[in-house]
Parts: sequence; structure tokens; C-alpha cells
Amino acid sequence: MTEHVLTRRDGAVRWLIFNKPEKHNALSLEMNEAALKIIEAFAAAPDERVLVVAGAGGKAFVSGADISEFEDRRSNAEKADEYGRLTQRMFFALRDVEKPTIAMIQGYCLGGGVALATCCDIRIGAEASVYGIPAARLGIGYSADFIKLLADLVGPSCAKEFLYTARRYSPAEAYHMGLLNRVVPTAGLEDYVAEYAATMAANAPLTQRATKIVVSELLADPDREGARGRKAVADCANSEDFRDARRAFMEKRKPVFHGR
Ligand code: COA
Repeated sequence: MTEHVLTRRDGAVRWLIFNKPEKHNALSLEMNEAALKIIEAFAAAPDERVLVVAGAGGKAFVSGADISEFEDRRSNAEKADEYGRLTQRMFFALRDVEKPTIAMIQGYCLGGGVALATCCDIRIGAEASVYGIPAARLGIGYSADFIKLLADLVGPSCAKEFLYTARRYSPAEAYHMGLLNRVVPTAGLEDYVAEYAATMAANAPLTQRATKIVVSELLADPDREGARGRKAVADCANSEDFRDARRAFMEKRKPVFHGR
């Protein structure tokens, strides 16, 4: 573990916080590895329902990959492939975890910071936040997986514009193109996200899991119902949670969900 990635638990909500404010939370391989462990532990914990990903220090979510590692770790195609393999494990663990995830974004969200945010299900940005992918200023090629995550949110044309221009986008622009779900006042961001996450954490985990699997299957192939999604929907119908919640409704009490 490293002090540059922090984690805490708040009820059923797990927080993952990138913590290198002196570098605007630029993501090193060591931080990547530490974050992967936290995501894997969250995935395996039945009583943890929602993950919030954030940056420490107030000035940045994540300012991209740590460029100081590039000379050594990313200087040609072969090294770039290896670097990609190492970093993708964390990004894809975040993308694929079968529970809701939220990116809470304040300050700079650049390059790999945008990639990280697109791996989350929901993005909530502060009024004081900035978005951009400076890859074209560094000569970096973005691989299919990340372009797809971005294009699925903002569409192919905005994804190309993002990468062609390497320019910075305001939260209002990011919201209108579909990158952000909502923009909230900076001072209230953390409270807003904590409450939002807690609300989701109190809902039925199997419904959320089925939703996530079905959406990802439809994005992979809009014309085909996937077997995992079908099974996840059936799991909801057969669950104790569904049985108890329909009784709770009839008895006018609040259901408590257990994810089974
Ligand atoms: N990788 C490595 N170091 C980074 C970094 C990154 N992605 N982003 C910021 N830093 C470092 C800076 O080099 C600087 O280090 P120093 O204090 O040793 O000089 C420190 O963080 C503070 O950054 P600085 O540039 O002085 O702050 P700023 O407020 O003027 O600008 C940014 C902030 C984020 C706009 C600017 O740092 C930047 O453009 N970073 C690179 C973003 C990028 O290209 N990301 C994509 C990488 S693929």
C-alpha cells in the first residue's frame, strides 16, 4: 500500500481517494496497483454497496498518468503495451465491478483522469472542475477500450473533438456533452455525493447489478440479449430482497436489502 491512495468506509459506501496533491494526483503505477487492491476488496465485500472515487487536495481529481514515469516505462510501443497492460487492470476492474461507482470530480480531470471517470457509472462534477485529454499535446495514442468508454458517453464526434483539440472543457460543456451526470456547487460537492451514494446504497443491490450488466451487454451489442444479463434479471425475480420488498410495500414499511 502507499499513502498516495487512501480509502475509508462510510456505512455501506467505500471511498477510494487519490492522494498526491503536490502533483495534482497524477497517477503513478504504484498508485494504480494500490487502487486495484481497494477495488478488488470492494468487489468482494458483500456489505459494501457503492464506491466513490475522488482526488485529495481540492485542486484535482486526477491530472492524468504520471508523465515522469513515461521516459522509463512508456518510451516505445513494446513498453507502452506493457504499461497499458499494468494500468488497464485497475481501470477495467473499476469499469467491471458489479456495483454502482461514482466519480466525484473537483479541479483538474485530465487524460487518465477522464479515463478513470469514464470507468465509473456516474460522474458528479464541482462547478470548479476542468476536463480535457491532452494526449495530442504529448503524442499519445488512446486505445480502443478508452475511446469506446468516452464515445459511449459523449458520442463519436465529441470524443474526436476532445482528442483532436486537447482543449479544456468547462463543467457546463462536459455536462451538455454527456460526460457529467450533474454539476454541483463546489463547497457542497462532498456532502452531495455522500448523500447520493448513501441513497443508492440503500436500494436493491441485485437490481443495480442487473442494470450494470445489461447496460454493458447492450453497449457491446445493442441487438443481442446477453446470457449474463438475463441471468442477473432472473436473480432479481427469485431474490429474497424482491419477496421482502413487495411485502414491505403492502405493509407500508421500509425494505432492507441484503443482496440475495
Ligand atoms: N504527471 C506528472 N507530474 C504532474 C502531472 C502529471 N500528469 N500533472 C502535474 N504534475 C506536476 C507538475 O510537473 C508539477 O511538478 P513540480 O512541482 O515538480 O514542478 C506539479 O505537479 C504541480 O503542477 P503545475 O504544472 O506546477 O501546476 P499548475 O497549477 O500550473 O497546472 C496542470 C496544473 C494539471 C494543468 C498541469 O500540471 C498539467 O498540465 N499537467 C499535465 C496534465 C497532462 O498532460 N495529463 C495527461 C497525462 S497523459
